[in-house]
Amino acid sequence: MESIKPFHVMALLGKARELEQQGRDIIHLEVGEPDFNTPQPIINAGIEALRKGKIHYTPSLGLMSLRQAIADFYQQRYSLDIPASRVVVTPGASGALLLIIGALIGADDAVMLADPGYPCNQNFVRFVDGIIQAIAVDESSSYQLTAEIIEQNWQKNTKAVMIASPANPTGTLVPDDEMKKIIQLVKEKQAYLIVDEIYQGLVYDIESSCALSCGNSGTGLDNQHIIIINSFSKYFQMTGWRLGWMIVPDHLLQACDHLAQNLFLAAPTTAQNAALAAFLPETIEILEQRRLIFQQRRDYLYPRLLELGFKIPVKPQGAFYIYCDCSNHTDNSMTLANDLLEQTGVAVTPGIDFGNNHPERYMRFAYTRDVQYLEQAIQRLSAFL
Ligand SMILES: Cc1ncc(COP(=O)(O)O)c(C=O)c1O
Repeated sequence: MESIKPFHVMALLGKARELEQQGRDIIHLEVGEPDFNTPQPIINAGIEALRKGKIHYTPSLGLMSLRQAIADFYQQRYSLDIPASRVVVTPGASGALLLIIGALIGADDAVMLADPGYPCNQNFVRFVDGIIQAIAVDESSSYQLTAEIIEQNWQKNTKAVMIASPANPTGTLVPDDEMKKIIQLVKEKQAYLIVDEIYQGLVYDIESSCALSCGNSGTGLDNQHIIIINSFSKYFQMTGWRLGWMIVPDHLLQACDHLAQNLFLAAPTTAQNAALAAFLPETIEILEQRRLIFQQRRDYLYPRLLELGFKIPVKPQGAFYIYCDCSNHTDNSMTLANDLLEQTGVAVTPGIDFGNNHPERYMRFAYTRDVQYLEQAIQRLSAFL
């Protein structure tokens, strides 16, 4: 437990709530979840399921109808033929990460991942006594691992490589041609590639893609060393429903099934029934409108932060984050985040929450608030700086 670090932003959030109780007006740009309510068709489907008494456990790998609906979605959106049997429904992407790390990683197996990155990944690896190979990445690779970086850092005990595209906290993507090289390399090494696509669909200026499209056959079927993680939390705006999924190779299904049975039995039944409405055309229409709103927010915030002297070497193309180098203003982003909160009421996440790669230089802005609030935040930041 001593090596499991807390989320520093939670302390900051606690302070923000305290200030709010004292009557201060806080602009929350620290929270990594959409501000929108879950689309109404999904809520209606959840209520309807409850009315019909659908409250019992589902099979541990999820409702077959939902697994099929997810497989159909890949066919419609990405022209990928994925058998529903390979879709595993989980309590959030978090549940998927827990299962797959549990299924793949044993004591002393190493997992390579990028720093900065989603902090919980390292803790999942610690949880099973695995070894974390955190690789410091910078703007030269858009803060992502590349095939070259992976090759350079390969160790005998490297068992899996984790990638997130789009990524948290940087909002950057792995381009398809690089993903192809990575898939090939990891296959040659006879290791596993775990691709976290939780922000899939939340991309701006470019087409949404899936790593499985970059595999050998382009069908995803023969990619027996790739695991895709996804979730209903971000694009589908269902954070609190706790629902995600992953696509796993056939030979890992049984391990995932057994682990799920033991660790949480199944994902929440109401959430699964609600999510059956997530792929309806009327839901997708709502979500696509909201995607454009996220894009407008990014297009407002990104140039303003540059004007204020923040450095953002790679323009984020996805998720809802901007990871800024604030070294023009401070040599300690944690102190700056605290000062910003106390003196301006703007809450942001300090770099320390995303790894050990010069965290004092960075902070993350989440554009999970309307442009009117972003405008206020910029005014306050400008006055303060
Ligand atoms: C990259 C990434 N992966 C996984 C998760 C976990 O999300 P959830 O469990 O809500 O699906 C998050 C949450 O912020 C994330 O940013």
